[in-house]
Amino acid sequence: MNSKQVVLITGSSTGFGRLFMETLARNGHTVFATMRDPGGRNAKNASEIRTLAEKDSLPISVLELDVTDDASVERAVDAAVAKAGRIDVAINNAGYYLTGLEEAVTTEQARRLMDTNFLGPVRVNRAVLPHMRRQRSGVLMHVSSGAGRVILPSAGLYCASKFALEALAEAYSYELASQGIESVIVQPGAYETPVFGNTVTAADQARTATYGAAKEIPAKLSAVLSSSAGNAQEVADVVLRIVETPAGEKQLRYSVGTRGFGVDEINALCKQVQANVMEAMGLAADTKFIKGKAAASV
Ligand SMILES: NC(=O)c1ccc[n+]([C@@H]2O[C@H](COP(=O)([O-])OP(=O)(O)OC[C@H]3O[C@@H](n4cnc5c(N)ncnc54)[C@H](OP(=O)(O)O)[C@@H]3O)[C@@H](O)[C@H]2O)c1
Repeated sequence: MNSKQVVLITGSSTGFGRLFMETLARNGHTVFATMRDPGGRNAKNASEIRTLAEKDSLPISVLELDVTDDASVERAVDAAVAKAGRIDVAINNAGYYLTGLEEAVTTEQARRLMDTNFLGPVRVNRAVLPHMRRQRSGVLMHVSSGAGRVILPSAGLYCASKFALEALAEAYSYELASQGIESVIVQPGAYETPVFGNTVTAADQARTATYGAAKEIPAKLSAVLSSSAGNAQEVADVVLRIVETPAGEKQLRYSVGTRGFGVDEINALCKQVQANVMEAMGLAADTKFIKGKAAASV
């Protein structure tokens, strides 16, 4: 296997996605930096990325990809495969934070959040997997959150979207293991990116009238999260390490910057519980990673 990987990243216009793009490309990996609307809302970001790639001779291509649109996802994946011949790693990064007491979140806001944070990766994974199976290897990476393991009031729907993502990614890790394809989860704590500026606020504030002191929870939580945010390069360094870890040696979960919140403890307990469940269901052998096995299923 060529140690330099072809990586497709969703939500590369800003924040983690953009940092992952630059970190991976500076280390010789070919990157498809995807974003929605690179000719419109992200025109400035797309142009900055293209200029950077040209100036520093970095292997980066910008592609349009809106994770809420099946056709857009498929077009981007097809364009990447047409150009590079393969996709080794798909990084499901696009997502946003929604703050507010759960009752104040409208059903339309909840639907949109799930459409991006959860159904986005469902679409991307379905689009890239036939190519990974053909090339006999691949990695599905999922940017979850510490909030994909612990629950914070006023972030309940965001947590739900990341819990759902964790379940999807873990199920995929079992189902794809015998074909030599990996699924991994990254769980960042709070990091300095534009995420806080891009946060959506629950729209139906009239619903919070009876909540008394609990009305202050969203503001308190947002203040704690934004004031404790770390340097996002820490997460990009972990993503680089995962991409460069040989097939079959990756962990299912990587928590970054969540120490003190119990995420590692939950991960360790769940790992044991899940192994016992696989054993009890008679599925342990079926869910073991087998290197270079993708060909067997074609
Ligand atoms: N920063 C943190 O503290 C933190 C912690 C844990 C997890 N995370 C997760 O990390 C991921 C990246 O967030 P970030 O912190 O880097 O914030 P960010 O700078 O706001 O990045 C979010 C990215 O998602 C993109 N996006 C949103 N909707 C999209 C869509 N429909 N199609 C394609 N792209 C879309 C945004 O693109 P536009 O420019 O077009 O809006 C942007 O590029 C998210 O999944 C977030 O939940 C962040």
